[in-house]
Amino acid sequence: MIELRSDNAAGVAPDILAAIETANTGSALAYGGDELTAHLQDVVRAVFEHPTARVFPVTSGTAANALALSAATPPWGAVLCHPTAHIIGAEGGATSLLSGGAVMQGVGGEHALIAPEQLRAALEAVRWGDPHESQPSVLSLTLPSDHGTLYRLEQVSELTAIAREHEMRVHVDGARIANAVAALGCSPADLTWRAGVDVLSLGATKNGAMSAEAIVAFDERVADELVYRTKRSGHVTSKLRFQSAQVAAYLTDGLWLRLATHANDRMRELVAELETLASYGVRLQEHADVNMAWAAMPAPALDAAAEAGVLFYRMAPEVARLVTSWQTSAEEVVEAAAIFRDAVTRAG
Ligand SMILES: Cc1ncc(COP(=O)(O)O)c(C=O)c1O
Repeated sequence: MIELRSDNAAGVAPDILAAIETANTGSALAYGGDELTAHLQDVVRAVFEHPTARVFPVTSGTAANALALSAATPPWGAVLCHPTAHIIGAEGGATSLLSGGAVMQGVGGEHALIAPEQLRAALEAVRWGDPHESQPSVLSLTLPSDHGTLYRLEQVSELTAIAREHEMRVHVDGARIANAVAALGCSPADLTWRAGVDVLSLGATKNGAMSAEAIVAFDERVADELVYRTKRSGHVTSKLRFQSAQVAAYLTDGLWLRLATHANDRMRELVAELETLASYGVRLQEHADVNMAWAAMPAPALDAAAEAGVLFYRMAPEVARLVTSWQTSAEEVVEAAAIFRDAVTRAG
């Protein structure tokens, strides 16, 4: 079997496991009062070049998003995001629950990225100050998008500037932010707070951690709220040091970017192979900027590839979502490509 369903299907990276093991000596104060959690705080400030950023480890990406957003919006607020965003379509309304009623509203744009003119139009159509209507309060950008595409830095800045005109805050769903930073080759600071981002859901689990994610708040008021919101939602775990140890190791010496670069490189190799199959009806629906591709091909070819042992999510009868991870090997990519080649040539 070749695993291309999700980077969530991958295991825990050896360096992360080693960090857990190192943390597993002696005892430590519970609920984040430990030295590893204090160390994580320093690591985050250094990596993000932000002297007052505050970090809150949590156990899932959904929790990171729902908590970050609920700390950034009033209950009557609307969170604007792309219609493909995980927060709108795949988190069971977690943000609405934790925020006490805020709603998600989709703002379109090609390639699963919000288009500035559509954001402007949506904001111009709002009846500001009218209590009959949820008031847009946060812009949430997914970086990279749920279709594996990326905003460029200047696009992020353009969108955050529009949000600022309406005194909205800006959140980034960075479940795969390492893949974005690695692909763009930019600094984490440039992609986040320097581009106008107030709060980041910093993913780690998809890229090698064990149920450890974090919220990084650049905005002090959001951070102040998160102190209480993380506790009340059960995310201040008693042995928080094991999550802190993971996220700290992840961000140290570029481990997160090495793991993400590996995943991105494997996808680039796979995409290069798939592109040679265009004459057999294989087509990438979006540019695969990171470790995810949405590939369209005849349904019988997808059936055959699945039968031959490639694991992927079927997004439509003729569309497969393919995701590589820190664990995907170059050999697996070669093998998967050969299976797809065989499948489409037979189907054709
Ligand atoms: C873009 C994005 N955001 C958030 C999440 C949520 O993460 P979790 O499944 O850990 O709750 C996912 C998970 O697939 C995701 O793809």
